[in-house]
Amino acid sequence: MDPLAPPDLDGDTRLLVLTGAGVSAESGIPTFRDANGLWEQHRVEDVASPEGFAADPALVWRFYSLRREAAAQIVPNAGHAALADVERRLGDRFLLATQNVDGLHRVAGSERLVEMHGNLFTSRCAGCDRPPFEDRVAHHGTLPRCDRCGGLLRPHIVWFGEALDPAVLARIDAFIAGCKGKRWIFLAAGTSGAVYPAAGLVDRCRRLGAETVLVNLEAPENVRSFGRVVTGRSGDVLPRLLR
Ligand code: OAD
Repeated sequence: MDPLAPPDLDGDTRLLVLTGAGVSAESGIPTFRDANGLWEQHRVEDVASPEGFAADPALVWRFYSLRREAAAQIVPNAGHAALADVERRLGDRFLLATQNVDGLHRVAGSERLVEMHGNLFTSRCAGCDRPPFEDRVAHHGTLPRCDRCGGLLRPHIVWFGEALDPAVLARIDAFIAGCKGKRWIFLAAGTSGAVYPAAGLVDRCRRLGAETVLVNLEAPENVRSFGRVVTGRSGDVLPRLLR
């Protein structure tokens, strides 16, 4: 079989896609693995965590401010575009769950999108229940404070040790529930299958009857869970697979 033979997406077939850092790699954002999980000698887990923020909020804001500045310079690649295209064909038979916080899927035109780990260009108050809001500012130097309560603002990112937003999980659950009795495909791209609950989606979908496809540069930890594996760069493979 041609490894790039497109799966049949006609008729009533549904498609749930999970993306990770690898999908943004060709736009110029290093993956977590590429960076060895380190930033300026700090383990990313120490910066991207509630404990890290409590210990040194200025350091955490510097980390995210640099990421905001870098992400603002980059543009989506052919992999993002292919996912936006297939969504236009499938409509509500499609859902994209991304672990990426860079916002590139939305820039590429994806609308049926859940950002499982939050968004780099959104902040919220660490002290009050003011809703999260768009914030593209790089906060170097002074710590940003909430207009409402004066508390510290924080990036609207799911940090290590934090739970995912229940509304995000509910949206994925609702899509999976809607696949019951239908033909459906779970496609993961550019993710190392190391961080849960995203990494567990493949086993759950397979048990519920989905065809499972992985597009990745190298075999990730959960590669054996996939029925079909296409090795390559997502910017090359996704446009051909989803043509
Ligand atoms: P990782 O950096 O763990 O994995 C990226 C995967 O993409 C690796 O398996 C690479 O082989 C693959 N890859 C690299 N370039 C690629 C390309 N051009 N095309 C296809 N695949 C490519 O990133 P994630 O799996 O996204 O969480 O990491 C998951 C989560 O762990 C992140 O969302 C983040 C991190 O800790 C939080 O921040 C909460």
